[in-house]
Amino acid sequence: MRTQVAIIGAGPAGLLLGQLLQRAGVDAVILERQTPEYVLGRIRAGVLEQGTVALLEEAGVAERLHAEGLPHAGIELAFGGRRHRIGFEATGAHVTVYGQTEVTRDLMAARAASAATTVYEAADVALHGFDGERPRVTWRAGGHSHELACDWIAGCDGYHGVSRASVPAGAISTYERVYPFGWLGVLCDTPPVSDELIYANHPRGFALCSMRSRTRSRYYVQCGLEQKVEDWPDGRFFDELRARLDGAAASALVTGPSIEKSIAPLRSFVAEPMRFGRLLLAGDAAHIVPPTGAKGLNLAASDVRYLSRALVAACRDGDPAEVDRYSERCLRRVWKAVRFSWWFTTLMHRFPDAGELGQKLQEAELDYLVGSRAAALALAENYVGLPFED
Ligand code: FAD
Ligand code: PHB
Repeated sequence: MRTQVAIIGAGPAGLLLGQLLQRAGVDAVILERQTPEYVLGRIRAGVLEQGTVALLEEAGVAERLHAEGLPHAGIELAFGGRRHRIGFEATGAHVTVYGQTEVTRDLMAARAASAATTVYEAADVALHGFDGERPRVTWRAGGHSHELACDWIAGCDGYHGVSRASVPAGAISTYERVYPFGWLGVLCDTPPVSDELIYANHPRGFALCSMRSRTRSRYYVQCGLEQKVEDWPDGRFFDELRARLDGAAASALVTGPSIEKSIAPLRSFVAEPMRFGRLLLAGDAAHIVPPTGAKGLNLAASDVRYLSRALVAACRDGDPAEVDRYSERCLRRVWKAVRFSWWFTTLMHRFPDAGELGQKLQEAELDYLVGSRAAALALAENYVGLPFED
């Protein structure tokens, strides 16, 4: 089998890249380790930047997003028993609440409607020869070995994928911080507690009230890394969430049986560069941010924006200039989102080793943020998404 671009991973990055290439007339095959049902079963991000929405429009998969997505023009910060709104109006932009699961579902449907090949349950995917002119990908499926010859390999296979791991150690630099806590998340079919997302900093720890629709809520509480989902029956989770909210939100909270519950560790991670010969990394394969700023999925989309343009220019027009600029261009935006996510995480969580000085500094910064138009605008412009460079 032969294709122009072999895409490893059918998460949002791989599927979106596949769709943009397909529309530009570039042939791509996607290889995914899991089943489609497994991929759709992972409950992850929920907030889309305007630039991500624009890219999904360009990919022709934004119809349901426009019908069902909820535009949000601000967030609320809760601390000291009160809530303070940070509006996005002065940025001229807004975000859209629409779950990653739904984005993935729309992209899978568009791909299924095209003639493009997606191989699910591809085991033992291996990358070969990307330092030369003739890269290849091999895998096993249905008891057989398969091989795909290609011009480029797009590594969209997430943090634990094979693509980044295939790069020789001497050719890659990595930067990492693991935070000393995780997020325990619950999804339930109850109306959200407020019209906008609430990010709470409380002595008991961080909490987030998010949503997927007007009838489906997504809640998170900061938890210890040693905690297990089994330790958190629904009643205990909602008691803890309520305890971390301001009085008005606590009494407005409607609880119901959870339909999903999971714990995610928090990490900042960047691998540099994002290109190794004919292998290009995108999304979580190259970088991870803690979810506090809702940047993970949006960053995957912004990589794909640059990557799709670069691969179309290389494959269709024979112009490799954009591929040559890909890594540097992506990383400038990546590092700014990594910085913002680290900053917002540091501001909103209780750190076991913060000490009294750390605690006082956090309180002063929160007070500054809600009292200064300039500080609030800096948060807003990062939250709605920094501009792309063209
Ligand atoms: P992924 O979604 O990880 O997709 C990679 C795909 O590659 C997967 O389908 C995987 O099965 C496949 N794959 C992996 N290895 C191989 C292989 N060897 N061969 C073939 N295929 C392979 N972001 C937020 O903004 N808010 C959140 O609340 C949030 N919660 C998260 C919770 C968790 C548990 C995790 C892990 C991430 C969360 N994120 C969140 C981050 C966000 O979901 C990711 O940034 C986004 O999924 C990145 O998309 P991606 O396509 O790059 O990677
Ligand atoms: C979510 O809805 O899952 C969500 C929203 C905002 C975040 C993180 C997660 O910052």
